[in-house]
Amino acid sequence: MFATGVTIVTARTPAGALIGLTANSFNSVSLHPPLVLWSLSQGATSMSALSTGSHYAINILAADQKELAERFASKRPDRWQGVPFSEGACGAPLLSGAAATFECFNRSRYEEGDHVIFVGEVERCSHRAGAAPLLFHGGKFYTEHPL
Ligand SMILES: Cc1cc2nc3c(=O)[nH]c(=O)nc-3n(C[C@H](O)[C@H](O)[C@H](O)COP(=O)(O)O)c2cc1C
Repeated sequence: MFATGVTIVTARTPAGALIGLTANSFNSVSLHPPLVLWSLSQGATSMSALSTGSHYAINILAADQKELAERFASKRPDRWQGVPFSEGACGAPLLSGAAATFECFNRSRYEEGDHVIFVGEVERCSHRAGAAPLLFHGGKFYTEHPL
């Protein structure tokens, strides 16, 4: 019953392969220094690339990116086919149209239960002014509804 935003965590391996998966475990940790966290399943195929890479990007999805959220949570091998992105300064792909993007140094990792908690140090960030957020609640996607 905990409503969240939705992100896609992206990276590029030293060999140039594109990595990306949908994650809603994202949260803020610290302002000084700027730190964020998210957690990754021990069983994720992207665990090796993400835990050993120096950087990743956290793309906060906009309401019109629901299909991307579903695609990057699926097992389809062609996740990246036709997905528009730019190269971040840190090497990770930045998804076009994201509501916000954090480029993070892979600062620390904490193994807990069946997940690994990643703490990232934000080196750069940007946002798309006025973008409506993609929300996730009870297994379904929503967007904002002002009270
Ligand atoms: C809304 C949503 C949020 C998700 N959040 C996470 C998450 O925070 N951590 C995680 O490990 N998997 C999460 N998943 C599942 C992964 O996206 C999914 O298992 C994906 O296939 C993993 O990719 P990989 O095995 O290629 O790394 C989420 C799925 C959805 C639909």
